[in-house]
Amino acid sequence: HHTQMPKETGLDHSLKVLKEGYPYFLKRREEMDTDVFETTILGQKAYCLGGESGAELFYDTSKFKRDKAMPKPVQKVLTGQHGVQSLDGKKHEDRKKMFMSLMSPKELDRLTTLLENYWYQSAKKWESMDQIVLYDEVKEILCRTACEWAGVPLLEEEVKDTTRNLANLFEKTASISPSYLQGTHSRKKLENWIKKLVQQVRNGELKPEENTTLYVFSWHRDDIGKLMDEDVAAVEVLNIIRPIVAVAIYIAFTAQALIQYPNEAEKLITKGSKQYQYFVQEVRRFYPFFPFQAAITTKDFTWNGYPFKKETLTVLDIYGTNHDPKIWENADQFFPDRFNDWKESPFSFIPQGGGDHLGGHRCAGEWITIKVMNVCLDFLVNQLSFSVPKQDLEFNLTKFPTLPNSKIIFSNVKRTK
Ligand code: HEM
Repeated sequence: HHTQMPKETGLDHSLKVLKEGYPYFLKRREEMDTDVFETTILGQKAYCLGGESGAELFYDTSKFKRDKAMPKPVQKVLTGQHGVQSLDGKKHEDRKKMFMSLMSPKELDRLTTLLENYWYQSAKKWESMDQIVLYDEVKEILCRTACEWAGVPLLEEEVKDTTRNLANLFEKTASISPSYLQGTHSRKKLENWIKKLVQQVRNGELKPEENTTLYVFSWHRDDIGKLMDEDVAAVEVLNIIRPIVAVAIYIAFTAQALIQYPNEAEKLITKGSKQYQYFVQEVRRFYPFFPFQAAITTKDFTWNGYPFKKETLTVLDIYGTNHDPKIWENADQFFPDRFNDWKESPFSFIPQGGGDHLGGHRCAGEWITIKVMNVCLDFLVNQLSFSVPKQDLEFNLTKFPTLPNSKIIFSNVKRTK
């Protein structure tokens, strides 16, 4: 039997989404007391899903596909075109396996060692500076780490420009912003750069280690035994390097949390304890980053009595699910201990997507992200002393992505080891 799906009336709500920002979908879901409602965005009918049941539905690949789901302007800066994000079925499965093959504990350890070295070197430099902007410094550290880990050669004089171009891909994604063109320009430059490296690997001029991204992706053969197009290989290498640099956003929020919640920071007395993991998880839950994810229905179907129509844009509310009062007690409080007796579910805690890593589109870099955040949290708590000058630590929920306004300023930085 069919029931009418809750519906937001009016012409087009795209502007409201931008004006209200991250909480837009949750606000509607709470007003209508539902995990699913219908609205109009980008000039078309769209379903909005959220909460645990909404997320579970969204990751049912028999009902949703990703091909053409992400708006072109976003692809042209953030993800690139024809990458893993846009694939479905067997093609996706094959490509995703290629990504996940890089994520072994051994490879994560190699990344950790590189990251610790670059942190240490930068911290040495910071001791002779009046103050630092942590977010900018961490982007550079992560750019060096990501390129070296991925087997991508990077000269010292290329570090600044490369960091800026990679950051443009996730900082200048919104096509309505005046700096959007810088984003498209940065993507073209980066894709050309990596494409040349892929050519050099294939013609033998460049020999990266066999376990690195550049090597694995250059020589990956798909389900029908073909090497990837050079352009696509470049897009996929950037799908590793770019988001590693983007973890800087979470590091800025991690520092913000240490400053804003001294009681929680004090609980991090035993180095390497579970408390560090709870803190990292709570940063990923509490702070806004990826607002939502899009897909398209593959067929007509009925779910919980609601009829869904084929070929309809569907949005999963990522931020709202992580702040859903039906899932999280005192959802709007920063409280790491909530992860102490947390019943893990693939659909309730979805800062980097839900479901399964291999079988679905859940973020390929989730383990890297958690590892990098743990290393950085340890550095901030145990290996660095600093003063926090007066600054604006607020963040704006209508900016995508958003950051603490000051980008975290430290002065009197000293290594404690
Ligand atoms: C996909 C978030 C870091 C690589 C995703 C998705 C989200 C996400 C929301 C989409 C999930 C979906 O389509 O359902 C984040 C956040 C990060 C982060 C908030 C923090 C900085 C990383 C890192 C890497 C990475 C460090 C790689 C080293 C990917 C890839 C995909 C993806 C390759 C596409 C997966 C697919 O379509 O199957 N990420 N991510 N991400 N992420 Fe991340």
